[in-house]
Amino acid sequence: MQILKTVEELRAWSRALRCDGGGGIALVPTMGALHAGHESLIRSAAEAQPGRVAVSIFVNPTQFGPNEDFARYPRTFTADCALAEREGATVIFAPSVEEMYPASAATFVDVEGLSDRLDGASRPGHFRGVATVVAKLMIAAEADLAFFGQKDAAQVAVLRRMVADLRLGTKIVVCPIVREADGLALSSRNVYLSAEERKQALVLSRAIGRVESLVAGAERQSAVLLEAARGVFAQEPGVRVDYIELVDWETLWPVLNAVPGTLFAVAAWVGKTRLIDNAIIGRAATTRS
Ligand code: PAJ
Repeated sequence: MQILKTVEELRAWSRALRCDGGGGIALVPTMGALHAGHESLIRSAAEAQPGRVAVSIFVNPTQFGPNEDFARYPRTFTADCALAEREGATVIFAPSVEEMYPASAATFVDVEGLSDRLDGASRPGHFRGVATVVAKLMIAAEADLAFFGQKDAAQVAVLRRMVADLRLGTKIVVCPIVREADGLALSSRNVYLSAEERKQALVLSRAIGRVESLVAGAERQSAVLLEAARGVFAQEPGVRVDYIELVDWETLWPVLNAVPGTLFAVAAWVGKTRLIDNAIIGRAATTRS
């Protein structure tokens, strides 16, 4: 497995493969600190396009706010490379910040409206950073397919809109949420949690489970479902809710009634760590790691 550092190298790799006519290029964008969630994305990409999978590892500064965890975000590059290779990555793309953002860079991708909802509401500028870096990666890799986790469901909505609007031609593939055996969704940020917080963090998946069971019992009204989810969070007073929402997964606007495909999403602060989780109404639940 090769490690590529520049956009030029990535583009050359992609074009050389394209010439052999054996299929498309699959891209798996990540910020590293890889875990079983990332693993499932890489595996799906390798099944779709064996021998043509680029995994990017880049802690993207533009998607972090000034008081967020950019500096202390976990960086585990050697272990990440081993994991990516084992799951079928063909190349790792690990550029420097200067490579992705030349000193004079003045071009950003703003997905208006969508970028101000859910995580975008509490993290101003976050989705601008995400959309900008993912556009750069898709263009550099000339990717036919790009793999993302449902875990970051609002991110998926923003990126789908971006790909459609810019006519990038990259097909977005969304993979299910991978969870720990007790229900906690895997996240690179889970390492920040103390033992006590790790227990408190289960309230997110409990709230999801509660809403899923009410929906299974034919409850559809958002007001009822959201109230039930708030009730679950109320039992864990150490956890501060950021948002609890039922929205259309394409527009991220709140809905009055949950229908198949509606996104139920939560974000909450467990100590100093912000965690997110979600479920798509009417879809089979999630994968355990
Ligand atoms: P990162 O948080 O590293 O996540 C990379 C990809 O892994 C995302 O598509 C995310 O949804 C997926 N992922 C994370 N946890 C998962 C889980 N438990 N189950 C399934 N998939 C999971 O998301 C980003 O990086 C960045 O915003 C990025 C898209 C790379 C742009 O910088």
